[in-house]
Amino acid sequence: MKQKKLTDSGLEKVIEIKGLYKSFGSFDVLKGVELDLFKGENLVVLGKSGTGKSVLIKIISGLLTPDAGEVLVLNKYVERISYRELLELRLKVGFSFQNSALYDSMTVAENLKFPLVRNQRNLSKGEVNRAVEEVLDSVGLLQTINQMPSELSGGQRKRIGIARTLILQPEIMLYDEPTAGLDPITCLEINNLINEVQERFHTSSIIITHDLTCAKAVGNRVTILLDGKFERQGTFDEVFITEDERVKPFYDYNFIQ
Ligand SMILES: Nc1ncnc2c1ncn2[C@@H]1O[C@H](COP(=O)(O)OP(=O)(O)O)[C@@H](O)[C@H]1O
Ligand SMILES: [Mg+2]
Repeated sequence: MKQKKLTDSGLEKVIEIKGLYKSFGSFDVLKGVELDLFKGENLVVLGKSGTGKSVLIKIISGLLTPDAGEVLVLNKYVERISYRELLELRLKVGFSFQNSALYDSMTVAENLKFPLVRNQRNLSKGEVNRAVEEVLDSVGLLQTINQMPSELSGGQRKRIGIARTLILQPEIMLYDEPTAGLDPITCLEINNLINEVQERFHTSSIIITHDLTCAKAVGNRVTILLDGKFERQGTFDEVFITEDERVKPFYDYNFIQ
């Protein structure tokens, strides 16, 4: 677990979730979720497939509506604000999707310009180009600016995908399984990038992952979604030193065998 100390501003909550419920038909996915994200921290969310992790962050970004509960994001109740306010809020909440694909027919630069031009119409051409170069530099891929996505490695595509979210300078980043399907070396690169984003842009992030090496490398705190709730939250050791049979398999799968 990284021992990064959060500053006083880290006591401020940027996300506060209380009593959150979400079902699909008769299938109860989230059953009383309580969760805080503090300013400047990286919070890792673990949980088996199909437990509702993606549903949770879709609710946070207003892509799905909760059945009950309160979801406060940057001091706005996402389920109560107008659509216009929601669109404004979404600009501050960067969402790196599990399978976020780049547009194959566009260059890296065009892929990065796309969200910027769509959301900030008042920028000059020069400002847009500068923003693209800056964000590419921050993910270490300035040299790919004129390449096509098909010419990049999986890890590079992932980093460009993250850059496309960062270009809007979000206050909160939601990463949905950022290292899924990547080889171990590329996973390390992505972990480093997540940490660099935290340091450089002072973002507060939720990172969904199954990868405990990633969890240890990036998380200030870790929590596990178990049966629709977060029952364990804390440092890596606090969460994993347990006899809970629902928790141990995560650890065993990653570190023993
Ligand atoms: N829009 C939807 N309509 C119906 N069921 C859904 C929808 N989104 C998710 N689900 C169901 O909710 C459960 C949790 O999904 P998800 O949050 O994607 O899991 P994960 O923890 O793997 O990210 C799954 O069983 C999924 O099939
Ligand atoms: Mg998911």
